[in-house]
Amino acid sequence: MNSIISKINIELKRVFKEHGYDDTYAFISISNRPELADYQINSCFNIAKLIKKNPIEVANDVAELVKDLKVDNINAFVKCEACPPGFVNLILNDKLLILSVEDMLSDIALGIAGKDILPVDAPKCILLDYGGANVAKPLHVGHLRVAVIGEALKRLYNRLGIKTISDVHLGDFGLQMGLVIEELKDENMVDSFSITDLETIYPKASLRAKGDKNKNIEPDLEFNDRAHEATKKLQNNIEPETTIWKKILKVSIDDLKIRYGELNVFFDYYYGESTVKDIMGPMVDTMIKKGIAYESEGAYVIDVKEDTDKKEMPPCIVRKSDGAVLYATSDLATIMFREENFDVDEYVYVVDKRQNLHLTQCFRASKKAGLLKKDKVFHHVEVGTMNGKDGKALKSRDGGVFKLETLIKDAKDKALNQLKDNNRDLNGLDENDIAKKIGIAALKYGDLSNSPTRDYIFDLEKFLSFQGNTGPYILYTLVRIKSIFEKIGISKIDKVNDVKCDAIVHNIFLKAIKYGDILLDAYKNYDTSIICKYIYELSDDFNSFYHEHSIINETDEHKKLLYIVVCSIVDRIVRDALSILAIEIPDKM
Ligand code: ARG
Repeated sequence: MNSIISKINIELKRVFKEHGYDDTYAFISISNRPELADYQINSCFNIAKLIKKNPIEVANDVAELVKDLKVDNINAFVKCEACPPGFVNLILNDKLLILSVEDMLSDIALGIAGKDILPVDAPKCILLDYGGANVAKPLHVGHLRVAVIGEALKRLYNRLGIKTISDVHLGDFGLQMGLVIEELKDENMVDSFSITDLETIYPKASLRAKGDKNKNIEPDLEFNDRAHEATKKLQNNIEPETTIWKKILKVSIDDLKIRYGELNVFFDYYYGESTVKDIMGPMVDTMIKKGIAYESEGAYVIDVKEDTDKKEMPPCIVRKSDGAVLYATSDLATIMFREENFDVDEYVYVVDKRQNLHLTQCFRASKKAGLLKKDKVFHHVEVGTMNGKDGKALKSRDGGVFKLETLIKDAKDKALNQLKDNNRDLNGLDENDIAKKIGIAALKYGDLSNSPTRDYIFDLEKFLSFQGNTGPYILYTLVRIKSIFEKIGISKIDKVNDVKCDAIVHNIFLKAIKYGDILLDAYKNYDTSIICKYIYELSDDFNSFYHEHSIINETDEHKKLLYIVVCSIVDRIVRDALSILAIEIPDKM
């Protein structure tokens, strides 16, 4: 909560207590009727019930008590009115608002620190599992959302002072590796291959093993057997498969770091399923010994059903009848590994929502198997899919999976064309670099502005538009402010003296002081789209302000100063928010 609002609440408590009202009801809330009030006191209804009075009577009484409330010797409200059936509507004094905004500007963190706004039991350290790329397969569009949302959540936690550990959790084990290894052998490529080679090898090997009825391709059973054999060898560290596999990992991870880097996504650890390959077997043995995993139709399973379950909850299979491990085994062993190596209070998995059953099974099984050092929160941010304009999963032109690389290139190219078409004056700056920033901002913002769980339609033209809730619109607002500052040539901002704000300035300041609440809301809901919505509205208000005011040519020095404060606070908040969203800002556009 903003410091001025908390000061008001402290004063309110004092007044309530003085007049015999229960002070737990002494707080102001953001008004849901902004045309009538900035803030409201909504608790008169509760008080009325308690003391058996009519709510409007209580509201009248409270309004009388509160109307002259002072904070830092300034009247807090210019309007304080009881309103039927029992609200108290409040309009903040501009003077106090300006002070509050100046307070924010004087602090590098805009006066927002996690320790002041987070609940007392908030976690100290969160481990984020996001990204989830698969080795030797190119990143596809499905990997975009989990990467950008995960990165934004990580930065939000850091912004609020919560320590994070980020792990990409690679899919680097299992049959896909055996397939790639055998195909590389057959093509005499084990000694030297590039990422481009790998990208063609996997689909080839997969087609060979599975065949394709539609194309009249028979499965190559001998090859399939060899791939299974190679996968087993990996599990037992047998050569040369293990060395080839390590080489595949290196080539793949080097490339992934570049791809994720382009999106401003960075991980502390490039661990994967294979990190726990040697502890999976003993872990399952222990589970069997303890009676937590039991035999069912030859396989070993853990029951994870709970009485309150509304949906079917099948047991979690940890060992197949042929002795092989599964996806769940590696996730369970990963939890064990993380518990051993890190001190974590909460786990946040940013993963496709279609994996919710799998993750729920794993979370429950880990608790049941006693893998956790202490009870802790597991949260699955269930990420929805990105669909094409036809509402179906996005496919490439040839009907195959859509590569992320293609998507990024498209966005950059289109942004460059837009810059060229609009004949933007870029002041000699590198237009390719600017187009890249705009393109990636468009992609990322298009994604982040949709609530994580929602499926959304991928529409690059819309995302690239300079109008509406888009990345370029937000960036353009910042570029506009930068150019105002350059034209005015300010180095430091003086204190604003005694200026009345017009409605639009008042409104911008009112929004500005809510920034901390917005971050808290995004944190509580694991939803960074809340931040997008907020900066969009703030930018929109700013742009109306810009069109209605002549900032640079304002002759009244007091007013001009006020306008500079408006520019500064919008600039600082939006920049702060974009650094959370991991979106880069061009100097011109
Ligand atoms: N590699 C997986 C996939 O592409 C995602 C991994 C998600 N994280 C996890 N701990 N299971 O589907």
